[in-house]
Amino acid sequence: MSILIVYATKYGSAEKCAKQLADKLDGQVELLNLREVKTADLSRYEKVIIGSSVYMGNMRKEAKAFIAKYLKELQDKPTGLFLCAMANGADAEKQLQACFPRELVEKAVATDTFGGELHFKRMNTAERFIIRMVGRSQMKKQGSSLIGDGKTDVSTISEDKVEQFARSMQAAV
Ligand SMILES: Cc1cc2nc3c(=O)[nH]c(=O)nc-3n(C[C@H](O)[C@H](O)[C@H](O)COP(=O)(O)O)c2cc1C
Repeated sequence: MSILIVYATKYGSAEKCAKQLADKLDGQVELLNLREVKTADLSRYEKVIIGSSVYMGNMRKEAKAFIAKYLKELQDKPTGLFLCAMANGADAEKQLQACFPRELVEKAVATDTFGGELHFKRMNTAERFIIRMVGRSQMKKQGSSLIGDGKTDVSTISEDKVEQFARSMQAAV
């Protein structure tokens, strides 16, 4: 079995998830970082996985462009879709539906949001500001926040979700 995992990342979390997935899948698995390569010959692969991180409710523009370019081919083979993002539960599901085209989500053999990471030292000043504001407003609304103290790195990536996604990809025909 040959699987291509295409991903778009800013600070490396989506890449980490893509590599975890690759380790859990049997057969020939190739990784493609959309920052380095923008095109692929999808006819060489039986299955394709597309993953992206989320910023302000949007997937990375490289992922959006790749999906737009290859939508027809992606609909014609088992495709998996994942997001790397801090939102969880119903918010994560809503984000996934909003980021990927409906016609692709409907046909996908696996879809999930694996969680995300916040590396405060890697963020620029504007990003740190946005994240701290989001954290403050979450704190007010729900009495807890996904961003912790706003200084210490946070990870909510779930290896169980990655494992389950890999199993669904493996089982798809
Ligand atoms: C400025 C900023 C905006 C973000 N916006 C969202 C968002 O709208 N929804 C969400 O679930 N996560 C959001 N996140 C969390 C990122 O998706 C998370 O940090 C992810 O792990 C980044 O992955 P990457 O390193 O692969 O780019 C945001 C993070 C930053 C720094």
